[in-house]
This record gives sequence, structure tokens and C-alpha cells, in this order.
Amino acid sequence: MASHFWTTLCALALGHAVIAAPQLEPRATASLDTWLASETSVARQGILDNIGSSGAYAASADPGIIIASPSTSSPDYYYTWTRDSALTMKVLIDQFKNGDTDLLGVIEEYISSQAYIQTVSNPSGTLSTGGLGEPKFYVDETAYTGSWGRPQRDGPALRATALIAFGQWLIKLIQDNGYTTQATNIVWPIVRNDLSYVTQYWNSSGYDLWEEVSGESFFTTAVQHRALVEGSKFASQVGSSCSFCDLQAPQVLCFLQSFWTGTYTLANFGSSRTGKDANTLLGTIHTFDPEASCDDTTFQPCSARALANHKVVTDSFRSVYTINSGISSGVAVAVGRYPEDSYYNGNPWYLCTMAAAELLYDALYQWNQIGSLTINSVSLAFFQDLYSSAATGTYSSSSATYSTIVSAVKSYADGYMSIVEEYAMSNGSMSEQFSKSDGSPLSARDLTWSYAALFLGETSASSVPATCSSTSATGTYSTATSTSWPATLTSGSGTTTTTGATTTTSKSTSTTSTTSCTTPTAVAVTFDLIATTTYGENIKIAGSISQLGSWDTSDAVALSASQYTSTNNLWFVTISLPAGTSFEYKYIRVESDGTIEWESDPNRSYTVPAACATTAVTESDTWK
Ligand SMILES: *[C@@H]1O[C@H](CO)[C@@H](O)[C@H](O)[C@H]1NC(C)=O
Ligand SMILES: *[C@@H]1O[C@H](CO)[C@@H](O)[C@H](O)[C@H]1NC(C)=O
Ligand SMILES: *[C@@H]1O[C@H](CO)[C@@H](O)[C@H](O)[C@H]1NC(C)=O
Repeated sequence: MASHFWTTLCALALGHAVIAAPQLEPRATASLDTWLASETSVARQGILDNIGSSGAYAASADPGIIIASPSTSSPDYYYTWTRDSALTMKVLIDQFKNGDTDLLGVIEEYISSQAYIQTVSNPSGTLSTGGLGEPKFYVDETAYTGSWGRPQRDGPALRATALIAFGQWLIKLIQDNGYTTQATNIVWPIVRNDLSYVTQYWNSSGYDLWEEVSGESFFTTAVQHRALVEGSKFASQVGSSCSFCDLQAPQVLCFLQSFWTGTYTLANFGSSRTGKDANTLLGTIHTFDPEASCDDTTFQPCSARALANHKVVTDSFRSVYTINSGISSGVAVAVGRYPEDSYYNGNPWYLCTMAAAELLYDALYQWNQIGSLTINSVSLAFFQDLYSSAATGTYSSSSATYSTIVSAVKSYADGYMSIVEEYAMSNGSMSEQFSKSDGSPLSARDLTWSYAALFLGETSASSVPATCSSTSATGTYSTATSTSWPATLTSGSGTTTTTGATTTTSKSTSTTSTTSCTTPTAVAVTFDLIATTTYGENIKIAGSISQLGSWDTSDAVALSASQYTSTNNLWFVTISLPAGTSFEYKYIRVESDGTIEWESDPNRSYTVPAACATTAVTESDTWK
């Protein structure tokens, strides 16, 4: 099966490419510029046409529900996918934040619709038992119960990232308007559910973004890490915290490293294919952080890993498509999902070709910010394709070599966009695929994701732990009951006033903004331990429940000494534990040679509170 929604994304990626490279010299071809200018408005309209209930092609969809494509047969994409919708909405939110204030109503309707759809029981489960991983729903927000590649664990992460982007815009208005209430009462509860899903299931297998491989996917893991890092920050911005995010994010990042093969990024574990796949290009552009360095651990666009992988992935399509024949290395080609693809006989996709461009535009943006670019042995072959005398080293932006390379990368990126321009319909419409033999549009028409890919773009890393472990954390799930938006939201700049949607959320169980008192399913328990240690010693907590390693010291949870001082010998850790659970535990002291010393008997015992609104508690102990 395919991904419907990807057409929209492609279109949106293109728009982002335009936004991401503002400080570069003008594009090489005036015609590409002209086409992009008109294509951006075609893509914007193409997206709005696919959103219920006022979109021209989505009249029967509920308000805020994004259809993947108007196509109802061969293929039937007339459903709403969580992933595709979130990727599309992130693009609209970015456009809104850039001044396209007319988009406010549709954004509010989307957020309200997601508060409801989170509560719809489906074959993957209920709100708190895995249902957030259900890939697609009917456009009237009822569950699709036919067989499908489920669960897909990227959707909740991507939805959290989109909603956080809007929540942060609301918060920026605090000084002027006080919309922190909406960020806290409407947006955060939805985001918290999605973050809870990610922390609970990131270490469980699922289907990839193409809905074909059941295993572990680079794209999914990359976007999950981003969501947890941003989720933690957003939590503090709304006066809360996300200890379960803080606990799992480093482990997700640890796992992400295992996708690097040494020469390219493996798309999936659990597949017999080569693993060369546009999945990895999309993973990099959807975790791009304009503020970041060329960090290999998060596969940032300008990292050696991302560039080496760009070459391997794009080269894998040179020989498989007729329309690419005769094009030499270092010159843009049409890009599909993966070279072994046989869906519709295996063709290039607009959104994948745009992703190849986008990654390079993002890298150019980062080099420009940093003021230099570095070539190392991993990225050398990528650069040599574009500039044959490229050699390892760091080149300052004032050097001639830097200018030559940057200009070559830019022409290369523009080349991918020119391919999209060449094979898009003359009126700007983009379907899902274009023929590998003659470039004519194929498969689902007006794919929302193709349009979304025209615009795209941020993420910080946690640090990579020395050893990875298989973990999960149970966060907090609660029905988001508040979806009433104020009649107006005034932008922080004070220059525009936009009328908000008067969302009725007829599906919602409640439209009041009263915060109901729910018993949390999990509680963040902080264990504070006063223990005098010497350099090289570490403290861990072991106990009778799986979260504490079931008494297995190799799975015990490490405490942090980051607040340890000579006068306050404090070790601590925060662990998300199921509310109401009773267990026994002890602290252990691990010597630098690995020797373990247990605390003296008896075992300690503890019951996690299950009280209304109690989400965090502290247990204070002293080493015995
Ligand atoms: C869980 O995480 C461990 C440690 O990173 C990794 O080896 C394992 O493959 C992961 N499994 C899944 C299903 O994500
Ligand atoms: C472009 O043309 C195609 C084919 O005629 C049509 O289906 C599509 O709706 C058109 N798109 C726009 C934006 O007019
Ligand atoms: C502590 O718990 C462990 C594991 O259940 C058990 O083997 C041990 O006997 C307990 N210690 C005491 C003093 O009860």
C-alpha cells in the first residue's frame, strides 16, 4: 500500500525549501523561481481543498480532518492518516507563523478534531492502550476496522511536534494577550497523550511510513526523538514537566545511532531490502534544527552522515528509472521511495524528489549559520561528485573553496526542484508519483503530502548514552476535554487580528474549558538518595517491578549525581511508574570495576500514589 498523504507533503517541502534558504544568493534559474512562486500558491490551495469540511474535495470530511487525496479508487486515499495530517498541519502552522493568518481557523479545527480522534477506540486499542498508533480513520472520525499495516508509531510523534509549534506561538502571545490558557488547557493535554504514547512504545516494533515494513524504522525513531525533546521544553513552558520524556529521549537517541551502517543510513530493521530509502532523507528533514550544528548523532542535514546517505540513496535510483538514464553522478535525478519498490511498478515520487532538494537547502542554511563547512572521510564522496578536487578539511565561508562548493550544492539542490517542475502538471497539480519511463503523473491525484512537501523545517539533541537499553515509560493519558477557542486570537506583533473558528467539536464529550480532575495512569516518582560516594562509584536503583529491572542489577536504573556536592551528597532519578503500583526496592552501589554493593536489609517498599491530579511525587531516602 502506499502513502496517500505524501503528495501534500512533497508540495509543502518545496515551500520550506524556499523559506529555509533565504540568505543564499539568488537561484540559478529564473524559471525555477517563477515556477516556485506560483507552485507555492497552488500547493497551499491544494492542501486547503483537502481539509474538511470547507475544502473543495473534502466536503464530507469533518471540520479539521485532512484527507490524503480526493482519490476514492485506484487507489482509495479518501481517509485521514495521522502521520500525513500532522506533517501537513506542521507546514500550515509554519506558514501561519510566517504571517499567513487566514490559516488560523483550519488549524484550530484540526486541533479540536485531534482531541476527539484520540478517544476513538480502534483496532490498535483505546486512548491509553495503544490506540494512538492507529494509522488511519474514516473522514467522519470513525475507526477503520479493515486489515492494515498497524500500528504506525510515527503519527503521535508528528502530531505532538505540529501541536507544539502552534502551542509555542500561543505562548509567545502571553505578554500581550495571555493565551497561555489555550496552550495549557487545549494543546498540552493532546500533546501529553501523544508523548505518553511515544515513551511507552518507542521500543516496540511497528510499520514504517510506507506502511509496508513491520520492524523498526529510522524515520519513526528520528521523529520520536524530536517530539520528546520538544515536548519536554513545551511542558515546562506550560508550567508542567515531562519526566517520562526526559527519561526516554536519550535512549531513543541511543537507538537511532544503530541505523548508521558506516556508509549510509539503514531505513528499517526487519526488512530484507538494501535499506536505501527516502525514509532516511525524510527523517533528516523532519528533524532539521536550524540552530543545530552538523551533528551526526541526530543526522542533521549538514552532517557527514546525512550527506553520505544522500549520495547513496539518490544514486540508488540512477539506474532503475528510464527518465534518469544518462544523467551523471552529482547531477539531480528523479527520486522514489526505495529502489526495490514495486507499487504501481515502482516510480519516482514528487515528495521524495523534493526531500532530496530540501535536505541540501537545509545543509546550506546550516553552513551559512555556522560560517564554515567541513568535509571528512565519510562525506568526501558526496562532495567529490559536485567538486572533483574536494578534499577533507574545514573551509571558512570567506574561502574560495567554500564559495565554490556552496554554489555547486545549491545548483545540485535546484536540479531536484527542476525535475519536480518538469514533471508536475502544467497547472501545478501534483499527484503521488510520476512515471519512471516518461514522467507522466501517476497514482493518487492532488496528494496532500506532495503539496505539503513543497514547504518544510527544528530539533535539539539529548546526549547519547554510553550504552543503549530497551526501555519504556508509561506517561499520562487523559481525554482532552477542552476545545473551545476564543473568538479572536490577536497576533503578538499587534498588526493583525484574526477571527478564530468557532469550533463546535460536536464529537467532543465536552466543550467546556473546565479542567476535570483525572486520576493519572502514571506518576513521575523522583527518588532522592543521600549517599556518600567516592570518584568512580555510581548509584542505581533495583526493584521488584520491570521499570526497576525486576531485581536484575544489569537492568537497574542509574541515579544522577549532577546535583551532588560535598555538603549535599544527593543522587536522584525520576521514573514514570504506573499509579497505584506497589513494589520493593533497594539502592545499589556500583564500583568502577563493576562490583556491586547492595543496601542492607530489609528491602524498601513503596506504593505509587493514585490520587486525583497527583502526577509527580518525591521519595527521600538515605543509604543504609
Ligand atoms: C529496543 O532498544 C534496544 C536498545 O537500543 C534495541 O537494541 C532494540 O532493537 C530495540 N527494539 C525495538 C523493537 O525498538
Ligand atoms: C490540473 O489539471 C488536472 C487534470 O486536468 C485536474 O484534475 C486538476 O484539478 C487541475 N488542478 C488545478 C489546480 O486546477
Ligand atoms: C528482598 O527481595 C528479594 C527479591 O524478592 C528477596 O530475595 C529477598 O529475600 C528480600 N529481602 C528481605 C530481607 O526480605
